[in-house]
Amino acid sequence: MSKAVSGKNSPTRITAPMLQKMKERGEKIVMLTCYDYPTARLVDEAGVDVILIGDSLGDNVLGYRNTIPVTMEDMLHHTRAVCLGAHRALTIADMPFLSYQISPEEALRNAGRLLKETGVQSVKIEGGTAFAPTVRKLVTAGIPVCGHIGLTPQSVNVFGGFRVQGRNEESAERLVQDACALSEAGVFAIVLELVPDELARRITKTVPVPTIGIGAGPFCDGQVQVFHDLVGLNPSRTLRHVKRYAEAGALIRDAVAAYAAEVRESLFPPGEKTPDA
Ligand code: KIV
Repeated sequence: MSKAVSGKNSPTRITAPMLQKMKERGEKIVMLTCYDYPTARLVDEAGVDVILIGDSLGDNVLGYRNTIPVTMEDMLHHTRAVCLGAHRALTIADMPFLSYQISPEEALRNAGRLLKETGVQSVKIEGGTAFAPTVRKLVTAGIPVCGHIGLTPQSVNVFGGFRVQGRNEESAERLVQDACALSEAGVFAIVLELVPDELARRITKTVPVPTIGIGAGPFCDGQVQVFHDLVGLNPSRTLRHVKRYAEAGALIRDAVAAYAAEVRESLFPPGEKTPDA
């Protein structure tokens, strides 16, 4: 990681155009989701390049089954907290389901709220060619947009589950066209979720903007993971593309159990155990 552009000890605030420079230099881009202030501070200090306030906060923080119930108010609330804790990483807020699909005008109004009311630097929307006019509208208004194609979780009911996309030639070709349309419309990066490695390689070679993969193999310009998966806060979720770097869930449960035991045995708080006369 070049210190001039990014890197753990760099004071430079990462911006959307810097990601393109990273791609040109062959520097891998590190993206991670985040949903609250203390975690944002840790993730930022750890040197992650991009913090995504994902609408996956629905399943990871709010207890929903998927991202569909997540509202603009949810995103504003969590994005504001994350942005207070992130000082170096580029921040991207997901636009939640139905906040951008109805019309480009409504998309602009909602994306504008995210930037004005939270301090986030950019937004992400799901979808391909059909959303190119929306991307153009937002970028023209001064809002950097990240694209997201492949398995787009807000469309889980159309896909009929969380399945790998672009497996046959026709759907692979469609995804390449989607990536080109988004790139031409002005996105600064494209998330590729659950697509075959070779298709991700092809898209990465075809578009000038960086690709950020999740379940899309090693050939993307960067990788994104869900924070709760990475540190073991969601141990029941076992996905092929997840690598667990810590068992924070077990650590927290054991710490809380130790506290409970010490209170019950009058070991906490420490001090004289004889009651006042
Ligand atoms: O909301 C999210 O966490 C995402 C990632 C899976 C890319 O969109």
